[in-house]
Amino acid sequence: MKSWREINALYQIYPRSYRDTNRDGVGDLPGITEKIEYLSDILGVDAIWLSPFYPSPQIDYGYDISDYCAVDPVFGTLDDFQNLLEEAHSNGIKVMIDLVPNHTSDQHAWFKESRGSNDNPKRDWYVWRDPKEDGSEPNNWLSVSGGKSWTFDETTGQYYLHTFMPEQPDLNWENPEVIEAIQNVMRFWFDKGVDGFRVDAIWGISKDESLADDPKNPGFEGSPDEFGYYIHKHCKQGPKTVERLRQLTDVAKEYDDRFLIFEYYPDDKLGEMLPQYKMIYGADASVSAPFFFEGFRLPWHAELFGTTFHEYCTMLEGGEIPVFGISNHDQPRIASRLSQEQARLMALMQLTLPGIPLVYYGDEIGMEDGNLSADELRDQFDALKGGMGGRDPERTPMQWDDSEYAGFGDVKPWLPIHANKETVNVARQLFDHDSLLMIHRALLAFRSMNDLMKYGSFETMFVGNGYVFAYKREYEGKRYYTALNFDNTPQFVTMPEMGKVVYATHPVDLPELADDRSITLRPYEGILVEATV
Ligand code: GLC
Ligand code: CA
Repeated sequence: MKSWREINALYQIYPRSYRDTNRDGVGDLPGITEKIEYLSDILGVDAIWLSPFYPSPQIDYGYDISDYCAVDPVFGTLDDFQNLLEEAHSNGIKVMIDLVPNHTSDQHAWFKESRGSNDNPKRDWYVWRDPKEDGSEPNNWLSVSGGKSWTFDETTGQYYLHTFMPEQPDLNWENPEVIEAIQNVMRFWFDKGVDGFRVDAIWGISKDESLADDPKNPGFEGSPDEFGYYIHKHCKQGPKTVERLRQLTDVAKEYDDRFLIFEYYPDDKLGEMLPQYKMIYGADASVSAPFFFEGFRLPWHAELFGTTFHEYCTMLEGGEIPVFGISNHDQPRIASRLSQEQARLMALMQLTLPGIPLVYYGDEIGMEDGNLSADELRDQFDALKGGMGGRDPERTPMQWDDSEYAGFGDVKPWLPIHANKETVNVARQLFDHDSLLMIHRALLAFRSMNDLMKYGSFETMFVGNGYVFAYKREYEGKRYYTALNFDNTPQFVTMPEMGKVVYATHPVDLPELADDRSITLRPYEGILVEATV
């Protein structure tokens, strides 16, 4: 198996939606095992990350865990997991799983004990506080999923803290026993052979210890129940964040070649964005990295992408691995947020950047957000926020073929199959030389064979008139240029040196540079040029 530094990409699987093998409408671990051949031989990806499959009331679809060291029966058994791990490993695929250290489910044995009485040994594993004199919440913190961060518990007369839903009480990271318990969860899975963890919502594991009120956001005019009403200065991203992450990276270092990727959204109210990512590398950049999320937060603008990616890569010149994620189970699908054509451009971009690109399942075929009716919506998290459609649209079942349930299973799935399954599916794209799947397959193979793509330097180039994001990759005397037309009109660009177009998003015939090194990129066309040496 390749080391984490050598992998070509990380592919995220949302287990509920990949493949259902036991006819209950929900994807399962044996379903993923069945698709290992697809992952290794067809797509050709070196690592997968599985969203949570642990026992859970599924209020937040597995991000509310009631037992960290087991498998929810809806997904299978521990043996099924072991089997998946072995199959993946014997096909050269690393397996990363989700770790949710900020909170448990309210159904976790720890929380049940904790809420049982004021003086039980687990009381201090969660954050309990007395009401204010008037009976109200201990402070003004708001929950990311809507409403206050505090829920009153009748039995013991105190409030408990939850950064997310009331069913997801926050663990008390000021308590060393909690940290040790989470470290032991990591060891449990590492001992089984798991290669790493994607670590959920780490902004919550350090908070202001005095639980001071968040200050009001002076620019915000909405109501006090809206998340934007406050500057989230005290409720998250506290001073001990990095120190606590280090307690996780320390565990990774007890083993060989294990890696952690942190889910961290910098907050512009806390200062500049890029240094906040850099700070997270401070845990231990040899075994960890944060996802870089600006790729889906930035407005669609070539120069903005150019300067942001340039600054980011320049900032990381100490050997840190950048991890570029432009979609996941919490974000609209790339092909919907942008368009099918732009999705091709993003594929070329992601797979020619340095570091580890994250590919969310289904994005390799250009899956689009589902159009769900009100009674088809499942995501309670977003329902609380009053969102329309929440995160369900980007979680619809994987489209393997054009059969009734798109090859996901034999019965009606938990979320409806997208209506475009006839055209957007793996089977069809496999036979279409120009499909998005084939772009991924070709670029992943290219990336695997080519050390430059993984280790080469990165430099943004200004080759057009502001509508083109272009960059140079260089390694051991070889150079490649990527030029991406962000506009829907043709763009004329002049490359810095002569070369040959080796990949393009509008394949059919690969375009060529003219003798003066110029080329006209078609609308949303991207090219990869190998410099003539
Ligand atoms: C992360 C997950 C998201 C989940 C939340 C609470 O942001 O990606 O899906 O709802 O944390 O665990
Ligand atoms: Ca199933």
